[in-house]
Amino acid sequence: MVRRARQRYKSVTALQVTRKASARLTKNMGLKYVDVYLVDGPIHPASTSQAAKGMAECVSLGLTKTVGVANYSLDDMIQMSDELAKFGIPLATNQCEFSVLRRWPELHGLIKACRDRGIIFQSYSSLAQARLTGKYTPENPPPNNYRFGSYDMRDLVPTQDVLKEIALERGVSQASVAINYNLLKGATPTVGIRDPKHAEDLVGALGWRLTLREVERIDAVSMEGKTTVLWQHG
Ligand SMILES: NC(=O)c1ccc[n+]([C@@H]2O[C@H](COP(=O)([O-])OP(=O)(O)OC[C@H]3O[C@@H](n4cnc5c(N)ncnc54)[C@H](OP(=O)(O)O)[C@@H]3O)[C@@H](O)[C@H]2O)c1
Repeated sequence: MVRRARQRYKSVTALQVTRKASARLTKNMGLKYVDVYLVDGPIHPASTSQAAKGMAECVSLGLTKTVGVANYSLDDMIQMSDELAKFGIPLATNQCEFSVLRRWPELHGLIKACRDRGIIFQSYSSLAQARLTGKYTPENPPPNNYRFGSYDMRDLVPTQDVLKEIALERGVSQASVAINYNLLKGATPTVGIRDPKHAEDLVGALGWRLTLREVERIDAVSMEGKTTVLWQHG
């Protein structure tokens, strides 16, 4: 099980961050340690070397098994990886938005760089917050606060159609096709599931692979997406 402690920096030193993390883990989450401790965003007043020092302290104190980052750009990820290496600690993961509706990390070399360096590229909003599942339509759009992959549903009709066609041809759900696409592109999907059917769709994405032709069909109706100044650098 992967758990995550969000790290929100204010004007704190690396040691204070570590102590805060310690208090949060023991008090708020009732855990002695987490499996992965993520710095959830590249915008923090602490320098990368300070942040790496704090993360290394978390590992040495036994608060987390591994450490990672989220929404980091390629350059910042490499810098963090190099800083952690000074403590003998590998960067385990970089978690970024990736799906049929946001291929930016693939198209700009982030996924390849992760693979080359042994860093797990985790995708979040892998289903574009259910926009890829068939659950939402132009007549029944998702809630306004579902902000990842946030396109007008009318623009996503061709994407939905191709995913649906492949799902029917293969006898799996549309969600399973969308998740399989992430796996095939080298991402380890982090999917927000809320009921048993969602779990079945996840399982339905395993044990098979989209063909090259099927991937080409999906690529043709995919979106590149973009980065944001504030948060999504990767
Ligand atoms: N590091 C970051 O900056 C960051 C940012 C965003 C998310 N995340 C993490 O990524 C994880 C997943 O991302 P996410 O929740 O944004 O997006 P997601 O996994 O693309 O979508 C999850 C939503 O899709 C619906 N859903 C899931 N499986 C479905 C299925 N098989 N069929 C139909 N609908 C399905 C559910 O909606 P309903 O609630 O409507 O049932 C669920 O809330 C979360 O755990 C989150 O913590 C990280």
